Amino acid sequence: MLTGALAAVRQGAVNSSTSATTVAATSASSSLPRPRPGTPPAQAHPTEETTGSMLHTSVKASEMSKKASETLTPSQTPGRSMYLSNRGNSIRQQQGILQEGFVQYARDQYDDAHNPDGILNVGTSENKLCYDLLHKRLTKPDMLHVDPALLQYSDWRGHLFLREEVAKFLTHYCCSPKPLKADNVSKGDCIWVSNCPCVCRIADAILIPTPFYGAITEDLQLYSDVRLFHVPLDCEAGGKDSRLFNLTVEKLEESLKKAKQEGIIIRAVILINPHNPLAEVYTLKEMIGFLEFAKRYELHVIVDELYMLTVFDESVTFHSVLSADSLPDPQRTHVVWGLSKDFAMAGFRIGTLYTENSHLVEAVAQLGSFHGVSGTTQHQVAQLLRDREWINEEFLPENRCRLKAAHSYVTGELRSMGIPYLHWPATLFVWADLRKYIRESSFERELSLWRCFLRHKVLLSCGQAFSCSTPGWFRFVFANQDHHLKLGQCVTQDTLA
Ligand SMILES: Cc1ncc(COP(=O)(O)O)c(C=O)c1O
Repeated sequence: MLTGALAAVRQGAVNSSTSATTVAATSASSSLPRPRPGTPPAQAHPTEETTGSMLHTSVKASEMSKKASETLTPSQTPGRSMYLSNRGNSIRQQQGILQEGFVQYARDQYDDAHNPDGILNVGTSENKLCYDLLHKRLTKPDMLHVDPALLQYSDWRGHLFLREEVAKFLTHYCCSPKPLKADNVSKGDCIWVSNCPCVCRIADAILIPTPFYGAITEDLQLYSDVRLFHVPLDCEAGGKDSRLFNLTVEKLEESLKKAKQEGIIIRAVILINPHNPLAEVYTLKEMIGFLEFAKRYELHVIVDELYMLTVFDESVTFHSVLSADSLPDPQRTHVVWGLSKDFAMAGFRIGTLYTENSHLVEAVAQLGSFHGVSGTTQHQVAQLLRDREWINEEFLPENRCRLKAAHSYVTGELRSMGIPYLHWPATLFVWADLRKYIRESSFERELSLWRCFLRHKVLLSCGQAFSCSTPGWFRFVFANQDHHLKLGQCVTQDTLA
C-alpha cells in the first residue's frame, strides 16, 4: 500500500541537511537568552552568508504567496452548472484544499470496527479526546429542558439567559478587570464571518498575518466581498526576528503601507491568539502593541480567542485582550470565542462575539437570523457554562492532561523522525516543517506530498491551505484518540521513510 507514496516522496526528497530550521525542542546554546516557547534555537551570529539567504527567503516568500493561490484550485472542482446563476456557480465551485481533503475523509472515514482501512484525520482541528466527559455531562437531567420560550423565535443575539452566562464566563476566564455585559454579547454559529462585512465595505480589505486558519479565506469569499491582505511571516528567525513566523508591529505597518500603495483600503486586522496554525500564544504586551497599531490607523481588530482554554502547560499563560485594564480602542476591538475548541464541541455550532460597539452588535444581530442556534442548544450551553465545578474540577484539568499527553506523544514522534516543529503547549495541533521531504521549494511539491499522504489514508493540512508563504509546512492535529494517533503516526512514518 505504501510503495506509491514512498516512491513519490523519495522523488521529491531533498538532502535533509538543507533544512534550515532545527527541532524547536532542542536546547539552545546556554550563552543565548532563553527563547520563548516556539522560538527555535537562535543562530549564534548571523553571518553574511546566512543573512543573504534570509533575505533571499523573504523575497522568495512573497513571490511564492502568488503561486500558492494558483495551486489552491483543486483538481476536482465541479464544472459550471447551467441551472445556477454566476453566484450559485461560484459558491458551488468554491473549494479549497481543506474542503477537498475533508470531503474525501467524510466518504471514507477510518473506523476501528467498520472501516479499518479508512482515512485517518490528522488534519481537522477537532478535539476528540474528551467525548466521555462531555457525554456524561450533556446527558445529565438538567440538560433536558423545554419551555415555550425555547421553542419560539428569540432575540437574534441569543436568549438573554445565554448572553448573561457568556458574559459571566468571559469575565471570569478572560480575567476581565470589570464585569462584561450581556448586552455586548452576540451568539451565532460562525460568528466572526458576520463581523467582517459589518466593519468593511465591499472590496475593502482586512490585514491578516500568514499563515492563518485557512477557512477564513473561503468563508469570507462565500459570505462577502471583503478581501484579505496578507502580512507574510517568515519561517526563518534572524535579524529582527527573534522567532519563527514572528509577528511584529513593523510587519503590520509594512503591509498596511504596501496595501495603500496598491490602492487597497484596509479597514481591519484579524489576530488569532492562541494562533492557528502556529499554536503560538502572544503575550498581552504584544497584543496591546498590535491593538495600538490598529488604533493609530483607525482599524477594527477582530481578535479570535477560540483556543483560549487549550493551553496545557504552566510554562505559558494565555492573556485575553479582555484582561487589559483598558483597551486602546474599545469601539473597534471585537473578541470572538466559541465552544468548538475549548469545549471540544465543534458539532454544537455555537460561537460568541464580545464587543463594546453596540452598532456592531445590532448589525451582527440582523445577520443572526441566518445563523440561528436552537433554543434547546442555547439552554444546554448556558447550563454547561454555569457549571463551574464541572469545568474547573473535571473538564479543564482532564482535558489539559490529555492534550499534554497527546502533544508529547506526537512531538516525540516528530523528534524521532528529525522533523522540526514549533513548540507551543497550546491548541490542538503542531506546526511542523516537512521541507526536507520536498525536492524543490514549490507549492506544487507541497501539494504532491499532501496528496501522497491522502492516497495513503492520512489527512493532514498543508501550509498553502493556511496561505503560508514558504512551501513545506504542515499542521498535525494531535487531539485524537491514542490508537488513532498511533496508526496515523505509523502510516506517516512509513509514508515519509
Ligand atoms: C482560529 C479559528 N477560528 C474560528 C474557527 C471556526 O470555529 P467554528 O467551528 O466554531 O466555526 C476555527 C476552526 O478551526 C479556528 O481554528
